[in-house]
Amino acid sequence: QESPPLYTKEEVYSHRSPETGIWVTLGSEVFDVTEFVGLHPGGPSKLMLAAGGPLEPFWALYAVHNQPHVRELLAQYKIGELNPEENVPPTLETSDPYADDPMRHPALKVNSQCPFNAEPPPELLTENYITPNPIFFTRNHLPVPNLDPDTYRLHIVGPPGGQSLSLSLGDLYKFPKHEVTVTLQCAGNRRSEMTRVKEVKGLEWRTGAISTARWAGARLCDVLAQAGHQLSETEAHVCFEGLDSDPTGTAYGASIPLARAMDPEAEVLLAYEMNGQPLPRDHGFPVRVVVPGVVGARHVKWLGRVSVEPEESCSHWQRRDYKGFSPSVDWDTVDFDSAPSIQELPIQSAITEPQDGETIEPGEITVKGYAWSGGGRAVIRVDVSLDGGLTWHAADLDGEEQPPRKAWAWRLWQLQTSVPAGQKELNIVCKAVDDSYNVQPDTVAPIWNLRGVLSNAWHRVHVHITP
Ligand code: HEM
Ligand code: MTE
Repeated sequence: QESPPLYTKEEVYSHRSPETGIWVTLGSEVFDVTEFVGLHPGGPSKLMLAAGGPLEPFWALYAVHNQPHVRELLAQYKIGELNPEENVPPTLETSDPYADDPMRHPALKVNSQCPFNAEPPPELLTENYITPNPIFFTRNHLPVPNLDPDTYRLHIVGPPGGQSLSLSLGDLYKFPKHEVTVTLQCAGNRRSEMTRVKEVKGLEWRTGAISTARWAGARLCDVLAQAGHQLSETEAHVCFEGLDSDPTGTAYGASIPLARAMDPEAEVLLAYEMNGQPLPRDHGFPVRVVVPGVVGARHVKWLGRVSVEPEESCSHWQRRDYKGFSPSVDWDTVDFDSAPSIQELPIQSAITEPQDGETIEPGEITVKGYAWSGGGRAVIRVDVSLDGGLTWHAADLDGEEQPPRKAWAWRLWQLQTSVPAGQKELNIVCKAVDDSYNVQPDTVAPIWNLRGVLSNAWHRVHVHITP
């Protein structure tokens, strides 16, 4: 029997477009699935996410593939095997502070590798109401610390006359376990649209710096109460410090008002579980803060220290970043002390399907996306236009109904409609309304700011129709 042709991973990786052909691997087997892409029941764009590499990380998310008929189908496209001699163990370059960062899912669109910043692609972002952990967006400012759960301690600084606590994970588990579904959004979500107006400083996030998880942990108010804290000073702040630090030893830090921290209805968590699993390293293992309704920057990961202070955290990220300014303010005139730190975020929505620049078939069309508002305000409506905003259709809202003032999680939405006959293109627009009747601004320019935060204008997607 002839041995099958051998290919290197690099050769497989060079086959990821219709021109070169589309190859994937499963275990040590190599497949040319060029002919199958258009036939994929999950759609061509999802299959293409795995083009040039292994299927395992994607099939782990979509268990529908764990069936004999799927394996048989794939077997027809086999062209060879991966070269076994290629498997040299990677050497650990110890001088690189990022060398110990965790492995990441190949579906993530990477905006920066070191520190790691990445978002799920639109075609996966709204596939699930709860974002699977491996594709939850990641926003790191520093290398990921590698913390030992057995020796981990969380320091809670007590009030004068109170008691400071040094809590092990086991101690945290003894507090009542509280679970809540919360959407996290980075202040820089959709920054790339601001960059198109005028250059800004920051990572080029598209629509994916937002994800939703079911978080579980101890309520911050219970832990603070045990240390003897009370809601005495309404002006006070709870400061959080991460265990990630830069070469000078400066840790990531942020703060929230004490009033929010002490309010049991605000459901602020010291979370140790994400979707029923221990927190993944990228998302703060073993403990992070989750502040429902509040900008991602305050959800401090790898939490090391909590203290109550008369002023906000002195951290760069609290005082010199994550603030909004007028479009006229530039880096020469900006006065960071003049603006409050971002806490609750404004109403937001975006289209995830179809994508900008795509060519679609005439006839029935499904438009999909997400909508969310800060501060527990519920999304009450999403309006979708196919003609650039002249006429509007109300989309169907999916996802959990949430209690009033505690709508911490997004709504996914979709609109099924038909493309008007004779159309050559569509200008699809979406905008959401929350229960305070806050709406999104129609264009980006008037909300442009030098740091590119709070980008929540109507989301616009231009598509072509095949004649
Ligand atoms: C569904 C094959 C890659 C996402 C399916 C089904 C087949 C299939 C046969 C239908 C299963 C059934 O209903 O019994 C394949 C093959 C692939 C591939 C041969 C690679 C060569 C991928 C990738 C993703 C993906 C990379 C995700 C990133 C999905 C989804 C469905 C699906 C979401 C369900 C669609 C629905 O519920 O209607 N795939 N798939 N597939 N696939 Fe794949
Ligand atoms: N906490 C620490 N310790 N270090 C960080 O870099 N990034 C913050 C926040 N918490 C950060 C952090 C920012 S800006 C965001 S948007 C969220 O974490 C992102 O959380 P995620 O990576 O779990 O999506």
